[in-house]
Parts: sequence; structure tokens; C-alpha cells
Amino acid sequence: MIRGVGLAVPEKLLTNSDLEKIVDTTDEWIKTRTGMEVRHIAEEGRDTSDLAAEAVQRALDDAGMTVSDLDAIIVATVTGDMQFPSTACFVQDKLGAKQAAAFDIAAACSGFIYALSIANGLIASGQFRHIAVVGAEILSRITDYEDRATCVLFGDGAGAAIVAPADGSGRGILDTYLRSDGSLHELLYMPGGGTKYPASHKTVDEKYHYIKMEGREVFKYAVTAMGEAAEYILERNGLSGDDVALLIPHQANSRIIEATAKRVKIPPERVFVNIQKYGNTSAASIPIALAEAKQEGRLRPGDLVLLVAFGAGFTWGSALLRF
Ligand code: UT7
Repeated sequence: MIRGVGLAVPEKLLTNSDLEKIVDTTDEWIKTRTGMEVRHIAEEGRDTSDLAAEAVQRALDDAGMTVSDLDAIIVATVTGDMQFPSTACFVQDKLGAKQAAAFDIAAACSGFIYALSIANGLIASGQFRHIAVVGAEILSRITDYEDRATCVLFGDGAGAAIVAPADGSGRGILDTYLRSDGSLHELLYMPGGGTKYPASHKTVDEKYHYIKMEGREVFKYAVTAMGEAAEYILERNGLSGDDVALLIPHQANSRIIEATAKRVKIPPERVFVNIQKYGNTSAASIPIALAEAKQEGRLRPGDLVLLVAFGAGFTWGSALLRF
């Protein structure tokens, strides 16, 4: 079960009108095509692990637990502090979580659902009791602010959940569903920095260290896959949209969110949307939304919550929680 949630976002803001001054775009285009208005941007010197550690600390506070309770830290990210070690190790160090194992998961925007599924399995096996599952990104550092097709979309932030064994009350992670299709990786990727294209003058000149995306194509796959993942996990558990207290989808585009909700017949008042405040924060979007939903009183103990995401890889998936 999820015992506590927390979020951390940088203070600096990047608005649609700021973007109008950087690239050939308009507030109207961004709002109507994506639903976005503002994103948070990490200040120089602030790393992904800083945001992640803050989010974990807040989630621990929310759970009434301390760092010494943590057996493991899993960070879902595609913008880790370094290629290695894992960002989770930096978080472990910053928190002083001496007993905790630490590792990262790279599943892009689906990363939090992947990490939650792994945490659930590790707890069910009896290996660990308390795991901090974090989604954390500083996407602004891999965004090309000369490319209007991508730079309006992404923001920075982190969210965390403390996962613990079920307490017998029926609350817990009921099911997770994970999928992938690597044949479509070139529709959304960052080619540079790995072993295929290690950093060189050429990779820098050709902007290999920035996000590349065929937005229209990704949009089509995202709508289909998120709808299917939401529908499938409900059916597999003998549930329908009527049973869901809150749908928390990955926040990539308000039109994708609307299409997903429609597919499982969940009305807008039971769909959590904060894309206008943060843009697309990849793996951080669902845990940020979880923490905010709780803060706003939209999540109560015992609520059935449906999470669904789609992202680079492609990867996609869903999770059903009794919060
Ligand atoms: O998080 C992981 C998964 N990511 C996603 O799910 C993102 C999926 N994709 C999307 O959300 C949308 O495809 C975008 C928001 C990226 C783009 O919206 P779209 O409705 O698919 O637009 P488009 O790419 O088809 O472009 C439509 C027009 C084009 O102009 P022409 O060719 O019709 O003259 C673009 O050049 O909009 C133009 N355009 C822009 N105009 C103003 C593209 N970006 C911008 C911009 N401002 N920032």
C-alpha cells in the first residue's frame, strides 16, 4: 500500500508568454493543443537527485516515517544526475538512508508505474518492507529551446510514494500492467550520451543530447495505448470506470487525457489534471499528481485510483490502487 506521498518542484517558472519570446509560438496554440500554461524549471546547480530527495522526505513526513525506515529507493528517471552511478544512490546519500538499496528505472513517462510494480513485487516477496518510489526529472536540461515542437512541452519536478506491505484493510496496490514496443523508439528519444553515440563534437553539433519527438505520431499511439491499458486493467479486475474514484493519467497532453477518460467512461470531475501548472514532467508527472491530489483532499483512504501512462520506448502501463 501507499503510506505517504510528496512532491518537490523548482520555484522558477516558464510561462507560455515566456516561450512566445523564445520561439515562434503562441499562448493560444500551446493552451489549445496541449492544455499547458506554466512549467517549473530547475535552477542551475539543482540536480534531479535534489528534487527526488526532497520529494522522498515529504512522502516520509506524510507517512509518519523516517529515513531509517527505508529498505530501498527506486528512482524512475531519464534525466539522472549522471550516466552512473544511479540517481537513487545520490538520493540515498542526500537522505542518509544508510540501510537502503538504491537503483534507477528507465521507462520514461511510464517509469513511475514500472517502479511501483517492481516495488510491489519486492514487498510481496518479503525482501523489503518500505520502499521509496520516486519519479524525478529535469527535462529542461535535455530540451532544445530552438525547437518549438518540443520546447513548449516539458518541465521539471519530482514526486514520491512510500510503498509498504498491505495492512489487511483492503488498501494496497491491487494490480499493475506493463507493456512495451521498442520498434518505435525513434518516434521519441534522445540519441546522444549513451554507447551508440558517445559525446563528440558531431553529437553536440547535431543536437543529439536533446529530446527528439514526432509529436503527431506519438500522440496517436499514446491515445490508443493509454485507453487500452486503462480498460484492460479494469476488466481484468472485474471493475469499470464507475468504480474509480480518481483517474490519474500521465500529463502529456490534455487531449490524450480526455480521450483516455472517455474510453473508460470516467467523467472529468473524477480525472486529475494539473498539466496547466507543470507541463510534461515525464516519470514525475503521476507521483506529483498523486501528492497534489492528496493535498487537495481529492484522495481519501480506501478510494480506488487508476494510474495510466505512456512514454518513450515505447513503454506504457496502468496500475490500480486502493489508496
Ligand atoms: O510524454 C510522453 C509522450 N508524449 C506525448 O504523448 C506527446 C504526444 N504529442 C502531442 O501531445 C502533440 O502531438 C503535440 C502537442 C506535440 C503537437 O500537437 P499536434 O496537434 O499533434 O500538432 P502537430 O505536430 O500536428 O502540428 C500542427 C501544426 C504544425 O504546423 P502546420 O504543419 O500545420 O503548418 C506545426 O508546425 O502546429 C505547428 N506547431 C506549432 N505551432 C505553434 C508545432 N509546434 C508548435 C508550437 N507553436 N509550439
